[in-house]
Amino acid sequence: MSRVYIFDTTLRDGEQSPGCSMTTLEKLTTATALVDLGVDILEAGFPIASEGDFEAVDAVSRQFPWVSVAALARASTLDVEKAAKALQHAKRPRIHTFIATSDIHLKYKLKKSRQQVLDAAVAAVTLARSYTDDVEFSAEDATRTEPEYLMQVCEAVVEAGARTVNLPDTVGYSTPDEYAELIGRAVKALGDRAIVSVHCHDDLGLAVANSLAAVKAGARQVECTINGIGERAGNAALEEVVMAMKVRKDRLPFETKINSEKLYHASKTLTEFISFGPQPNKAIVGENAFAHEAGIHQDGFLKEPTTYEIINPASVGVPASRIVLGKHSGRHALKQRAEDLGFKLNREELEEVYHRFTQMADNKKGLRNDEIVALIELVTKSASVTAGAD
Ligand code: KIV
Ligand code: ZN
Repeated sequence: MSRVYIFDTTLRDGEQSPGCSMTTLEKLTTATALVDLGVDILEAGFPIASEGDFEAVDAVSRQFPWVSVAALARASTLDVEKAAKALQHAKRPRIHTFIATSDIHLKYKLKKSRQQVLDAAVAAVTLARSYTDDVEFSAEDATRTEPEYLMQVCEAVVEAGARTVNLPDTVGYSTPDEYAELIGRAVKALGDRAIVSVHCHDDLGLAVANSLAAVKAGARQVECTINGIGERAGNAALEEVVMAMKVRKDRLPFETKINSEKLYHASKTLTEFISFGPQPNKAIVGENAFAHEAGIHQDGFLKEPTTYEIINPASVGVPASRIVLGKHSGRHALKQRAEDLGFKLNREELEEVYHRFTQMADNKKGLRNDEIVALIELVTKSASVTAGAD
């Protein structure tokens, strides 16, 4: 099976989004979770951007000498030198240099010609190679770059020594078929001279789909983040990319080195340090990802979990599935919950509890265990009082 490398950029692209900045200590703790998870490359920061980023790259490099640590640098001498300095203690340093290649970025942002950008890319890769053999080049806004020119840039940077060529969908504009076509073209052109990498943003909610389509087209590195954090709408979520390949091996016959049982822990660790967690309905790590409220689903799940769960929660480190008792729940789930709480209800009692439960649940978002207990006690006590009066 083909191996796909997971390039984690939670500490760089993820960290540079609103509410996500981390101290060096927080980055180190998150890096520990990422290393445990088994990411192949850990992008720890953008050293020229701040002293904190420089320090974090240096600290992560020292703490995890066996891990491939990447530092980001624009295609300029100062940036590359700073990245190299931050990585000086790394045993497996990767310099990741980038420049935008789309006409829109050239005209409005860089004010450079295509030739100037190509020259800057080659110069940056050449300089980076003087520090390390492991150099990655990214053509920022690749998906809005004129394809002929983009291929010319890819050829030139590989010639200059880049081992990985990343074609980011920087603004999350591409679609799976379109991205697969672009990636397939680069894979064909570069052959085994370089690994083609993908880096997708989620502006249209397609980051994971685009990344997977690219892998099918021959990309062998996926850049992603825990919980999908990152610029604007975020990056492709690592946990989703990995689990799609694991659960749908029939369609996605690729292998990663990720220990999926550590996914939930990594997500929780990150959430501790940033200002928001994943939304409740987030795939894999959201609070509701393994919760069932509808009666029909609860009934099926209680008979056989695979009726409504395609992933065993333990396989991603989630402690257990949850049955949420709300207005859509049925008798089966209520009976099960009563038993879990230590009550054995007869048929009439269950009917009565269920009747009262649906009345209460209609006006609430769900009932807590203490409310269920109170309801059961009310019904069973009043039943015994009535029986006593007979
Ligand atoms: O989105 C992007 O293009 C980037 C590059 C710097 C890789 O984050
Ligand atoms: Zn990005």
